[in-house]
Amino acid sequence: MDEKKVMLSGIKPSGDLTLGSYLGAIKNWAERAEQFDCYYFMADLHAITVRQKPADLRRRTVEQLAQYIACGLDPEKNTLFIQSHVSAHAELGWVLNCFAMFGELSRMTQFKDKSRKNEDNINGGLFTYPCLMAADILLYQPDYVPVGEDQKQHVELARNIVQRFNGIYGDVFKMPEPYIPKVGARVMDLLDPMSKMSKSDEAGAGVVYLMDKPEDIMRKFKRAVTDSDTENCVRYAPEEKPGVANLMSIYSGCTGKSYAEIESEFAGRGYGDFKKYVGEAVVEMLRPIREESLRLIADKAYLESVYRAGAEKASRTAYRTLRKVYKKVGFVER
Ligand code: TYM
Repeated sequence: MDEKKVMLSGIKPSGDLTLGSYLGAIKNWAERAEQFDCYYFMADLHAITVRQKPADLRRRTVEQLAQYIACGLDPEKNTLFIQSHVSAHAELGWVLNCFAMFGELSRMTQFKDKSRKNEDNINGGLFTYPCLMAADILLYQPDYVPVGEDQKQHVELARNIVQRFNGIYGDVFKMPEPYIPKVGARVMDLLDPMSKMSKSDEAGAGVVYLMDKPEDIMRKFKRAVTDSDTENCVRYAPEEKPGVANLMSIYSGCTGKSYAEIESEFAGRGYGDFKKYVGEAVVEMLRPIREESLRLIADKAYLESVYRAGAEKASRTAYRTLRKVYKKVGFVER
């Protein structure tokens, strides 16, 4: 019998993966791949809540798989799949739509944010997105859902749904816990440290992508905003110096050093020097990931074999849960 606890998470292929996706999510997944039974997917169903170019979506979905593997998710030990290949997600998503309240969905910060940014396309999917995300999670009965800070509210909503559903039908779903990293849970844009570094940011000048070339990474760090005071001192004060705090958390995420260690390492050295070191640490952390991703992206047949096997394995678990749910709510067995 498999005693391992279960972990599950996903990323929308709505843009190229960033340093935020890595430090906030994938790094955390890869470090625990041995210890847990893990399911990771490319959330393509979620991606279309915002208009996508079909060819780009298709390319990014497969490239994202290559990047998961390059970041250390071994497909032999983790179940890696494409969300739309396991139709149970959409099916349970519908059921859970009927167990989430209009009021609670209206309170979701991401919905409010995205509605502001996509005023001409505030579609129903954008609104009910957390129900699909709850379905993604609950199908696999995970213990932990490793995500960055911005997704915590959605995992909390999934927990409310579990409580409501189990309250009516008995113990159907396991209660999942969000699992947020201590550093890197909210990597900010290098040019605008008050906004999250986002893969769907069109301009992208303050966004570091996993596939950026070393010289581009160095240039982006060189231009990074520090703070407007004249102190020129590396000190962790997120309220006063959000730009510096962001760079410190990135450096900490890359090197494992604490904020106190970073402060003493850079005591008496200016921001210019500090930014160069952070850039170099990021370049070195991402170099093997980029190289391995490029190698894997060229091997289409291998990637296809991984996502096919992943979908098959994921489907077995997912349909077991879906059958139970259908029975509980009163659907006639097929
Ligand atoms: P998404 O695609 O926006 O982001 C993927 C993961 O990366 C984290 N993240 C960040 N962490 C720190 N700093 C940042 N700047 C940063 N940007 C992104 C996110 O918190 C997330 O963990 N709805 C989800 C995808 C999803 C999902 C799921 C996640 C769909 N179904 C089921 C967990 C379980 C999303 O849009 O993440």
